[in-house]
Amino acid sequence: MEKTATIQIGDRSYEYPVIVGTENEKAIDIRKLRSDSGYISYDDGYANTGSCTSDITYVDGEKGILRHRGYSIEQLSESSSFMEMVWLLIYGELPRKADFDEFREKVRRGAHVHEDLKHHYLGFPPRSHPMAILSSMLNALGCYYPEMATNNRETDLERFDEAAAVLVSKVRTLAAMAYRNDRGLPYIYPRKDLRYSENFLHMMFSEPYNEFTDIHGLGHALDLFFLLHADHEQNCSTSTVRMVASGGANLFASVSAGVSALWGPLHGGANTAVIQMLEEIRDSGDDGTRFIEMAKSGKSLMMGFGHRVYKNYDPRAKILGNMTDKVLASLGKKDPLLDIARRLEEAALNDDYFISRKLYPNVDFYSGIILKAIGIPMEMFTVMFAIGRMPGWIANWKEIAEAPKGKIHRPRQIYMGKSERDYIPIENR
Ligand code: ACO
Repeated sequence: MEKTATIQIGDRSYEYPVIVGTENEKAIDIRKLRSDSGYISYDDGYANTGSCTSDITYVDGEKGILRHRGYSIEQLSESSSFMEMVWLLIYGELPRKADFDEFREKVRRGAHVHEDLKHHYLGFPPRSHPMAILSSMLNALGCYYPEMATNNRETDLERFDEAAAVLVSKVRTLAAMAYRNDRGLPYIYPRKDLRYSENFLHMMFSEPYNEFTDIHGLGHALDLFFLLHADHEQNCSTSTVRMVASGGANLFASVSAGVSALWGPLHGGANTAVIQMLEEIRDSGDDGTRFIEMAKSGKSLMMGFGHRVYKNYDPRAKILGNMTDKVLASLGKKDPLLDIARRLEEAALNDDYFISRKLYPNVDFYSGIILKAIGIPMEMFTVMFAIGRMPGWIANWKEIAEAPKGKIHRPRQIYMGKSERDYIPIENR
C-alpha cells in the first residue's frame, strides 16, 4: 500500500503521508499543504474530508456496516441495552458489573432536576418547539452545575464522569417537561424503581392519580430505539458538538449545540418529515406512485431515504423495519402509514433512479412509525433522537477534550466576494 501521496501543482510536487485506519480506510494527511504550497483543499459539505481520527464508531457505507467500539450494531441491538451502550461509547469497553451497577445507580438517582429549572419553562411562549426548549434547557442545566461547566478543560475533565451521568439522566426529564409544559400538564417526578426508558414514559404519560403502566413492553421498544440512535460517527450534529468542544466549551454547551444541529429535516428532523410525507401521500389518495415520480423529478425529496455515507441499506433501518411490525403487533394495532412506507420502499428499491444513486432507507424511515405507535407525539420525534444520541455526543466531546494538543476547528474558505474598493459617503451614492 502507498505510504505517501504526491500532489502536483504546476511544476512543483508535494508529498504527504497516507494515514490508514484500523479498517483500512485511507486518507492523505494534508495538514501542511497550505504552508508548503499556499493552496488549501476545497470540499463543500466535507464529503471527502476526515475532520478527525476517532476510536468510537466505524461505518462502512458501501457494505452497510455499523460498529461501536468494534461491536456490530446487530449484536448490540440483539443482546445489549441502551445503558450498556452509553457506557461502551463513553468509556470504550463493555462495563464490568460493579462499574455498571454504580453508573446505573447514578443515572437512576439523578433523574430529577432542580426545582428552579421549572421556571425557565414558563418563559417559553405556547407552541414553542420542544427541540428549541431542549437545546436551551441543556445549556441552562450547565448553570446549575457550574463546577462541571467551567470551560477549563482540566477542570471539566475532572468532573466529566458526573457531568456525563447528569446529562444522560436528565435529558429525559427535560424532554418530558417540554412535552407536558406545552400541554399545561403537571410535571411528573421520576421514579427510582423504573428502568431508563420506562422512567421516561412515566414522566411523559403518567398522571398524578393514574400511573403509566408498561403493559405492552413499550419501554423495551424505546430502549432499542435509543440504542440504535446512540452514535453515528461524524454526522452533522456530532461534528457540531466536536466543533464547539474544540474551542474549549464545556460539555453542556456542546451538547446543546448538537441538539440544534440535529433539528434540521435533512438530519434528525427527517423522522418527523417522513410521517408528514406519508400522511400527505395518504391524504392525497396516492398509492405512492405519484410521489416517487415527484422525487425523481427533483420536486420533492423522499424523506428517510439516502445517506451521505451509506450507499447500501442502513443496518439500523433494517432493525427498525423489523421492530415496527413487532411493536404494532404487541399493541394489536395496524398503521396504514406502514403499508404506504413498505410500498414506497419496494417501489424505490426497484427503480433505476434510486438504484443508480444508491438511495436506501435510512434510520429515520421507520422510526417515526414506531414512535407514533408508542404514543409519542410528532413534535417530540426529533427530541427522542436527541435523547438517544446523547452518549455519542458525550463520547465525542470526551475525545476532543482529552486530545493532547487538540486544535480549535477552524476551516478556511475561498472568498468570492468583492475585491477591495473605496468607501463612498452616503450623500454621494
Ligand atoms: N430523495 C430523492 N432524491 C435524493 C434523495 C432523496 N431522499 N437523497 C438524495 N437524492 C438524490 C439527489 O437529488 C442527488 O441526485 P443528482 O445526482 O441527480 O443530483 C443524488 O441523490 C445524490 O444526493 P446528494 O444530495 O448528493 O446526497 P448527500 O449525501 O448530499 O445527502 C441526505 C444526503 C441529506 C441524507 C439526502 O439523501 C437527503 O436529503 N435525504 C432525505 C432526508 C433524510 O432522510 N435525512 C436523514 C439522513 S439520516 C440522519 O441524518 C440521521
